[in-house]
Amino acid sequence: MSEDEKRRWKGPPKNEKASSGRRMSERKIIAYNAKDESSKRWIERQLSDPYVQRAKADNYRARAAYKLLEIDEKTRILSGAKRVVDLGSAPGGWLQVCLRRGTKEIVGIDLLPIDPVPGAHFVQGDVNEPEDVEAMMKGLSGPPDLVLSDMAANTTGHKQTDSLRTAALAEMALYFASEHLAPGGSFCSKVFQGGATPDMLKQMKSMFKTVKHIKPPASRAGSPELFVVAQGFKAKS
Ligand SMILES: C[S@@+](CC[C@H](N)C(=O)[O-])C[C@H]1O[C@@H](n2cnc3c(N)ncnc32)[C@H](O)[C@@H]1O
Repeated sequence: MSEDEKRRWKGPPKNEKASSGRRMSERKIIAYNAKDESSKRWIERQLSDPYVQRAKADNYRARAAYKLLEIDEKTRILSGAKRVVDLGSAPGGWLQVCLRRGTKEIVGIDLLPIDPVPGAHFVQGDVNEPEDVEAMMKGLSGPPDLVLSDMAANTTGHKQTDSLRTAALAEMALYFASEHLAPGGSFCSKVFQGGATPDMLKQMKSMFKTVKHIKPPASRAGSPELFVVAQGFKAKS
């Protein structure tokens, strides 16, 4: 994160008001007006989440921005990443992080639309659709040195189904990276339920010099989400 952002971030909240800028009673009233229980829980969580307030202050579109910044603090994947692909970009937090970090060319894709991010080439589409991926890749002048995926399927509530759908997205992201990454490049993907599947891990270990799992502090403790980071892509023989 930038020096300015670091100065503004005073660490975790010291009292309940500081965590969100709103008192508990105000948060309860806003949540009370929500239409159902799950919306109420979501609103309560958002209003009391210090990362949401921090994202507002730093002008990031999503609290997810801090996950990437924290992953970068541990791995330096953004250093020297001049051409980047961001799979599952909406609403655009990771696009913003990369651009602020000096990425020269960045392309992204998502099923959902986003407000334009100046400097990023975004395509609304599906990563499983070759034409959509091709349209996205038109925004790069050469192979990417970093492929990011924060893709997550809409949850169904059925644990096994959700876990299989997310694993399929992570595998798709790895396949994409294997086809497009420049030699020496890096890959970072969201994975669930104990990390990458054994098959995916085996594949990554043969494709990259190093592979590790990271749970950034900005990733909610109760969430099964983890990130796998692979660095040093070996050129295809
Ligand atoms: C957690 S959000 C990404 C947040 C983003 N990293 C940011 O910083 O703003 C996950 C996104 O993955 C997208 N997604 C899920 N399946 C996808 C697919 N098949 N193709 C493209 N995007 C997909 C969802 O639409 C969702 O917007």
